[in-house]
Amino acid sequence: MPTPKEIIGQIAAGRVLDVATGGGGFIHFLLEGLQDYTEIIGVDNNDRAAASFAEAFKENPKVHFQQMDAHQLDFDDSSFDLVCISNSLHHLDPGPVLSEMKRVLRPGGHLLVSEMFRDNQTETQQTHILLHHWWAAVDMVNGVVHRETYTRQELLDLVASLELTHVSTFDLCDLSENPRDPAILEELNPVFERYIQRAEGHPDLQARGAELRQRVEEVGFHSATTLAVIGRKA
Ligand SMILES: C[S@@+](CC[C@H](N)C(=O)[O-])C[C@H]1O[C@@H](n2cnc3c(N)ncnc32)[C@H](O)[C@@H]1O
Repeated sequence: MPTPKEIIGQIAAGRVLDVATGGGGFIHFLLEGLQDYTEIIGVDNNDRAAASFAEAFKENPKVHFQQMDAHQLDFDDSSFDLVCISNSLHHLDPGPVLSEMKRVLRPGGHLLVSEMFRDNQTETQQTHILLHHWWAAVDMVNGVVHRETYTRQELLDLVASLELTHVSTFDLCDLSENPRDPAILEELNPVFERYIQRAEGHPDLQARGAELRQRVEEVGFHSATTLAVIGRKA
C-alpha cells in the first residue's frame, strides 16, 4: 500500500486545511507524509469533535480546530496551500463542498480527496461496505445526512469537475490482517450496540444489524479500499 510519504512527501505545504476533520484522524496521515507545513487547521460542524481533536494535538501548537460548516468555509479565497477531505464526502453535498475547497486553495496549491469506495471489493471488504450502508440508513432515519458510499468512478468524476492539473490517484488497500480475528468483533460490538439502539422503532434496520454482526463472525472484515486523488489548482 502506498505510504503517506509516497503520496504527499513532495509537498512543503505551508498552510493546510482538513475539511470535516472529526477528531483529526486524517491529520495524522498528513503529519506522517508532508515534507513541511506551517499550520494545519481542521474544521468540522460538530462541536463534539473539538474535544477529541484538542486532546489528540495538545502537544502540537501548529494544529488547530475551528467549528464550521464545510459548505460555507469561513476563509478568504486562495488562503491555503493544501486542502484535504477524508472519508466525509458521503456525509455532505459533494459539489458545493469541493467548490468551496477549491475557492480557498491558492492557484498551484494541492487538493486531496481521500474516500472509500464500494465497487471491486473482496468479500471481507464488502462486510465494511455493508456495515457502512447500514450505519448510513440508521443515521438517515434519525435525520442525520449520511449517504451510501460512492463508486470509484463517481469519485473520479467529482474530482474531474474541479479541473485540477497534475492529477495522481492511489488505491489504499491493506488485506494483511486476519479478517476473522475475534478482536475485530470485540472492537465493533459497541458500535453494533449503539446503532441497534439508534434503530429503535425500525425492526428491519435492527434485523439488518444482527445479520451484519453474524457476517463479521462468519465471513470476516477488512477495511474497504480507499481512493486518494491529488491534483493542483490551475
Ligand atoms: C466519517 S467522519 C470523517 C472524519 C475524518 N475526516 C477522518 O477521516 O477520520 C465524517 C465527518 O464529517 C463531519 N461533517 C458532517 N457534516 C458536516 C458539515 N456540514 N460540515 C462540516 N463537517 C461535517 C462529521 O461531523 C464527521 O466528523
